[in-house]
Amino acid sequence: MSAALYLATASADLHARFQLATGGRDLTLFQGALPSDPAELVARSAITSLPDVVAIDAHQRSQEALNLAGLIERHYPQVSVVLVSDIGSELSLDAMRVGIRDILHPAAELSEVQAVVERAAQAAQLRRALAASEAPGGASGPARSRVISVVSPKGGVGKTTVSTNLAVGLARTAPGATVLVDLDIQFGDVASALNLEPEYFLPDTVTDSAARDTMVLKTFLTQHKTGLYVICGPETPAAADSVTAEQVSRLLQMLASEFEYVVVDTAPGLSEHTLAAMDESTDLVLLTSMDVPGVRGLRKELDTLTELNLLNDSGHIVLNFADTRGGLTVADIEATIGTKVHLTIPRSKAAPLSVNQGVPLLQSDVKDPMTRQLQQLVGRFAPTPAVRTRSLPTIRARSLIAKERGTEPAPRRAKSRWRLPRRAVA
Ligand SMILES: Nc1ncnc2c1ncn2[C@@H]1O[C@H](COP(=O)(O)OP(=O)(O)O)[C@@H](O)[C@H]1O
Ligand SMILES: [Mg+2]
Repeated sequence: MSAALYLATASADLHARFQLATGGRDLTLFQGALPSDPAELVARSAITSLPDVVAIDAHQRSQEALNLAGLIERHYPQVSVVLVSDIGSELSLDAMRVGIRDILHPAAELSEVQAVVERAAQAAQLRRALAASEAPGGASGPARSRVISVVSPKGGVGKTTVSTNLAVGLARTAPGATVLVDLDIQFGDVASALNLEPEYFLPDTVTDSAARDTMVLKTFLTQHKTGLYVICGPETPAAADSVTAEQVSRLLQMLASEFEYVVVDTAPGLSEHTLAAMDESTDLVLLTSMDVPGVRGLRKELDTLTELNLLNDSGHIVLNFADTRGGLTVADIEATIGTKVHLTIPRSKAAPLSVNQGVPLLQSDVKDPMTRQLQQLVGRFAPTPAVRTRSLPTIRARSLIAKERGTEPAPRRAKSRWRLPRRAVA
């Protein structure tokens, strides 16, 4: 049995505080001079392999500590490394470059020591689970991933409702192989619609280290109980400023190389980020409410896409809040937008409740006409919705362990059918 936590320090005080903070956790102490080879940590201790979390005291020999931490990150990718250091931003930048995510101040409160260790252990477990879920032999990504963006010119028409339900529905047919990205980057509310309390957010998933390495990227995903992975929108609108359209493209490419289904919730309209997402999408769900302003907006959006010669079979037109009592029929709407409506979703009393509770209809399976229509939508993408169950998550990613980190190019996907010239629509 390997220890759950390994602490390399010469400080008796730090050791004592780690013992106090981590309570019953199995703690192994390494007291000698830091070796240059991580394997020596094991060889010179009474353990047989490195545990989930290795904490290295960088107090005295920070360069040695960094080198060792970098080697562990590279050669033992499922281990989380925590640096204990009071050397401010300079070291933290270097630490970030070698892939270390947690730095603990030597004088940190016990509760913080506990929180950092817990977080590191969880990240390690997530990485282990993801590695274990890979296909034997490390297949080169899903054969045909679908990147589905849910878009509309207006807000409040149900993009988040539809995208969260679609993602949960797809995750049930392909557990562990579906990811939902909240690209409503200023006011995204996917986390609340799924009742998640994420630790990481969109900006974490586009940092240099995540953009270089899908394994690092995966540690920033939030898991939903349905087996869905989620990237939640930034915590504040200001934090969204740091995310560029190019970063969004790269992120979606990386996700498409690892997941069968990538569902993207978007902000209203055609922002740079939404255009970037459309550019990477194999499918668009074009959503409108069943009223004159909504339908006119969709008409303009379709016109714009047509002008750019971008409309093809991959668009799925969905009418939400479908209700003929407003005086509009589906035929009227088809005549206005000049194309077929693929799916209608009725107004439902169950919808607001499900959003407020953070449990999508396709998770709770509430009997409701809206649930049935959402299931139909899932069926447009998944061959046999809700029937194909798998005992193991099946992210068909290449073997994370065997992979030399960062050296293999992401497998190329089929060329997107939604080539949008960037900035063509402002
Ligand atoms: N078919 C529906 N019936 C009833 N309420 C709905 C329906 N679709 C969405 N809603 C509600 O409308 C509100 C806006 O939906 P939301 O998905 O947040 O829209 P968007 O993401 O496009 O801004 C939410 O409160 C949601 O519960
Ligand atoms: Mg929304």
